[in-house]
Amino acid sequence: MPRTSLVVCVAALFRAACAIAASDTGSVIELRVDSLHAGPTIDRNLFGQFAEHLGNGIYGGIWVGRDSTIPNVRGIRSDVVAALRALHVPNVRWPGGCFADEYHWRDGIGPAAGRKVAVNANWGGAIEPNSFGTDEYMDFISQIGSEAYISVNVGSGTPAEAAAWMAYMTADALTSAGKERAANGHPAPYRVKFLGIGNESWGCGGAMTPDYYVSQLKIYARYVRNYNSAQSGDQAMRRVAVGADGSKTDYVEAVMKAWHDKVWSWDVEGLSLHSYTSAGWPPSHPSTHFGADEYTLLLKDTLGMEPLIAQHSQIMDQYDPQKKIPLVVDEWGVWLAPLAGSNPGFLVQQNSLRDAVLAALNLDIFARHADRVRMANIAQMVNVLQAMIMTDRERMVLTPTYYVFRMYTPFQDAALIPVQFDAGSQGAGGLARVDAIAARDARGNTWLAVVNLDPERPVRIHASFTGTPMQAAHGQVLTASQVDSINTFESPHMVQPVPIDGVAAGGGLSLNLPAKSVSVLQILP
Ligand code: AHR
Repeated sequence: MPRTSLVVCVAALFRAACAIAASDTGSVIELRVDSLHAGPTIDRNLFGQFAEHLGNGIYGGIWVGRDSTIPNVRGIRSDVVAALRALHVPNVRWPGGCFADEYHWRDGIGPAAGRKVAVNANWGGAIEPNSFGTDEYMDFISQIGSEAYISVNVGSGTPAEAAAWMAYMTADALTSAGKERAANGHPAPYRVKFLGIGNESWGCGGAMTPDYYVSQLKIYARYVRNYNSAQSGDQAMRRVAVGADGSKTDYVEAVMKAWHDKVWSWDVEGLSLHSYTSAGWPPSHPSTHFGADEYTLLLKDTLGMEPLIAQHSQIMDQYDPQKKIPLVVDEWGVWLAPLAGSNPGFLVQQNSLRDAVLAALNLDIFARHADRVRMANIAQMVNVLQAMIMTDRERMVLTPTYYVFRMYTPFQDAALIPVQFDAGSQGAGGLARVDAIAARDARGNTWLAVVNLDPERPVRIHASFTGTPMQAAHGQVLTASQVDSINTFESPHMVQPVPIDGVAAGGGLSLNLPAKSVSVLQILP
């Protein structure tokens, strides 16, 4: 293995660090990128998001109201829309979460003055004004260029209520449901691409036994009809059943067995998995002012996503060896202690460089399992848990996690390319040193993402390519001075990507990546 000299350095900001780093990178890590054996498509829906009526996730974060002094289009804040458009968010799961199983859609349609004002009993007892309802959600996803993923109320609702909601959204304008929608300003049927049938029905969604849930699933899957969708095939709406609570797989077995033995009258096209990174429960790890030990602990915990998905795939393969049913990881992310002074029911936490590295590792894991994992939703979009964006009245700041999602956009719908490497290990904890994925996009461009997990040491990478002409590489790297570096309203640019370039050397590409960093590069032929 050739030891290469330093040929890549991060522009401007990190030039000095790179020069020092060259002598401190330890052994070279070899990546072998085999473009001749491209794998499954990395479904763009892996980069989905989740926006629940929780804390300031919707109110303040997305919805400010038409009369707000904050710039908005029909009540939806324009700065947040502009930021999200850059992520090409493929789908937005709404209205919950636990909130979904107590949500009654009729409370949130029609003239503003007539909307029901309620209490959000799940999340901090906040007043729920229902100003953001179905039509506002559809307007929001249209403004950001995304698709609808609606979670219907199975816990405290009925199949009839869910069916009526779907008719309101999707039936022709000549129907009574469609006329009501038209009277509320939208004659054309909406498109609902994904339907979640319940949320955590083993917990906040009704504490149902797996068998009881399966009996409900069959009824909802049959009668909650989408009138603006093909009824079968690739273009049909995809129904997502509730699946596991982490590694507790009784729902997985029950739903997959029922699907395997099903009769013609019902079907599902996805099975959910919820798995948060918290290194213990209830979440108690801080989101600010932590060091390398906390960083290592949380990253090791998040790497548990890999065996968890392997475990799910194994069970699903027994009933569905052709992998017709996607695994939908529709709640994932780091869940930390609430910020001091915040309402604990609002799930407010900071978002650090560590969390960006954690996001990249999860996206890599999902991509490596792209044959089975075809959709995922980070929790959550704005102001809640591992958010992309934080707002405070008129101010907005983009989090480190936002930048990872932006850097990874070339992987949406790209073909996975196998990358072989020895991840190595570092420190007493034995945390892997690196992670990497590669893919080829629709235009034939090859992309490489590499994470250097080491909190202190840069790493030198030598990547060889089979089937991809390579002269150089260009992209972005995200790092910062500390593992707990954050962006704040006062200092919004502490963690943001900077350019990185590479050149051919030693029969491949050599990269010297800073400690605790995420890099995405386009391979230039
Ligand atoms: O994302 C916060 C909550 O976590 C969701 O409402 C629930 O589904 C999960 O337990």
